[in-house]
Amino acid sequence: MKIIHSINKLQKELRRGRKKGLPVGFVPTMGFLHEGHLSLIRRARKENKVIVVSIFVNPAQFGPNEDYKKYPRDLRKDAALCKKEGVDYIFYPAVKAMYPEGYSTYVKVEGLTENLCGKYRPAHFRGVTTVVSKLFNIVRPDTAYFGQKDAQQAIVIRRMAEDLNMGIRIKVMPTAREKDGLAMSSRNAYLSPDGRSAAPTVYRALQLAGDLIKSGSRDAAKIKSGMRKMLSAAADKIDYISIVNPEDLKDVKKIKGKVLVAVAAWIGGMRLIDNIEVKA
Ligand code: PAJ
Repeated sequence: MKIIHSINKLQKELRRGRKKGLPVGFVPTMGFLHEGHLSLIRRARKENKVIVVSIFVNPAQFGPNEDYKKYPRDLRKDAALCKKEGVDYIFYPAVKAMYPEGYSTYVKVEGLTENLCGKYRPAHFRGVTTVVSKLFNIVRPDTAYFGQKDAQQAIVIRRMAEDLNMGIRIKVMPTAREKDGLAMSSRNAYLSPDGRSAAPTVYRALQLAGDLIKSGSRDAAKIKSGMRKMLSAAADKIDYISIVNPEDLKDVKKIKGKVLVAVAAWIGGMRLIDNIEVKA
């Protein structure tokens, strides 16, 4: 396994494999890897000959008062995990390399970025789609792997790849969870002890919605109010509890077919997000 910082050097390395027609699988991350990331890496390993994992805490997707500076980082541990999973290249660029002086180009997906997290983190998805476009151009993978944990992100990236004819297959893998249901996240490391015990309520509220829908409830407002009751006992603040159409991410009133139930809430000083897909 090689850890590569330089964009040029990575491109040169990858050109060799591409010449031989070897399929390249790519897992973009911000590091501090956990089982969720590893599930994507394992799937990539199974389906490709060359595996690239990028580790880049992307300043462009953090708001001015968000946790860019204190986002957890541990390259040594991440490298050991990647090596164990048979990763070929870790791409670990510097911020200066990705956004040199004079950098001026951004990619924005409209519509899909307006609801859910887009409402609360105004420039977030523009930062995500910009960096992922850059990473796709640098790595030029056949297939890129994303997690359902960040459902809106995966949907936005799929749209972008299609709209811009990137010719990259986007695969979305299920959310990896702790035993108590909490969705794994690099940020969980920073939960206070009280926050950690309250955090599984996010998934419990989602499960409540799932159970209600499965047993015939169709009124989204009623379901959301049940979830809010449960979640407000555990959360310091709720950004949103939403039931949306997984195609266009617009709120639904009456549940029909497949819906995405999604939550963002502040617990123990951290903003947690989670979601489930339910079919009525
Ligand atoms: P990061 O939060 O590090 O996540 C990298 C990938 O791992 C994303 O596709 C995310 O959805 C997936 N992932 C995270 N937690 C997961 C879990 N519990 N189960 C399954 N998959 C999980 O998402 C980002 O980084 C960034 O926005 C990025 C796409 C790298 C752009 O900067």
